[in-house]
Amino acid sequence: MAAERCVAFAPGRVNLIGEHTDYNDGLSLPFAIAEGVTVTATRLTGEEIEARALDLGEQDRFPRSAPERAAGWRAFVRGAVAELAAAGHVVPAARLEITGTLARGAGLSSSAALEVALCLALLGLGGERDPDRVELAHLCSRIEREWVGAQTGLLDQLASLLGERGHALRIDFRSLDVIPVPMELGGWTLVTADSGEVHSIAESGYNARRAECAEAARRLGVTSLRDADARAAAALPPPLDRRALHVIEENARVDATVRALRLGDAAAVGRLLDASHASLRDLYEVSTPAVESAVARLKAAGAAGARVIGGGFGGTVLALMAPDVPTPGDARAVHAGAGARIVEHG
Ligand code: GLA
Repeated sequence: MAAERCVAFAPGRVNLIGEHTDYNDGLSLPFAIAEGVTVTATRLTGEEIEARALDLGEQDRFPRSAPERAAGWRAFVRGAVAELAAAGHVVPAARLEITGTLARGAGLSSSAALEVALCLALLGLGGERDPDRVELAHLCSRIEREWVGAQTGLLDQLASLLGERGHALRIDFRSLDVIPVPMELGGWTLVTADSGEVHSIAESGYNARRAECAEAARRLGVTSLRDADARAAAALPPPLDRRALHVIEENARVDATVRALRLGDAAAVGRLLDASHASLRDLYEVSTPAVESAVARLKAAGAAGARVIGGGFGGTVLALMAPDVPTPGDARAVHAGAGARIVEHG
């Protein structure tokens, strides 16, 4: 049923492990977190979309049938309206009020949370309360690609849309099979700390890494690096050899982490986080001095493992603390929460 008002919430995500694998048909293990973006959509008469970014004190207004390009948060709103309409959904004239609890550019998927919350609120207003979530993830990634200029994979959108409380999601990006894995960490705690460096996918080396992976796959004669063989990858010219080896080994670390979680072996998860970080730093080369000092700080505070999460080039560091180790002052505990949802409809 169509509504006068629809409020949708979409969470950010932490990726436990499996970084830069999504656009290589690989494996990841993200979970949704408590922080996210809330969009309140209210039906208007007329033909316009009015949008307000309440935390920024900024506004936008555009015809719902013909949004033009814009920058910053406005690109997401215009992209959401345009891509929903292009996919055949009814997008009513509406006021959209956006507010969030996620730091922007911190590598916790504030972008996906914004896209997902916008789409769920607009769809709900138009009467579609239960859209196909995998299709919606694809649509949200089109917003990012076509309107924001970031060639992201589906990691962030699927984590936000399919998250389950107390579980990480083992996502196979080739088949899009998603297996919820209970986060059996005993009394161990996952914490995040901000590196202090804002990252922007559209402006970082992210798209370049993606192109390098495509080139490595082409030279290896495989459709994606999911099928690459480590020995053949090691014979590629640099830096393609390093990029491909990271992807091959990171996929293996995802399944090793799933096994460790199933065995309740938190110490092994810590070692895998360290190995993932070393690979992201040395093979994939997406770390920065600010990230390295955040990792070093967390390790010095007793972390059993720590790594940069998300696209890298700044953003957030994730660490695993044993039960008797206090959470460092600048870090916050994170827990696997529920996925995106409509919180009010009527
Ligand atoms: C960003 C992208 C994701 C994924 C990660 C790296 O978060 O949005 O699609 O590629 O980087 O794993």
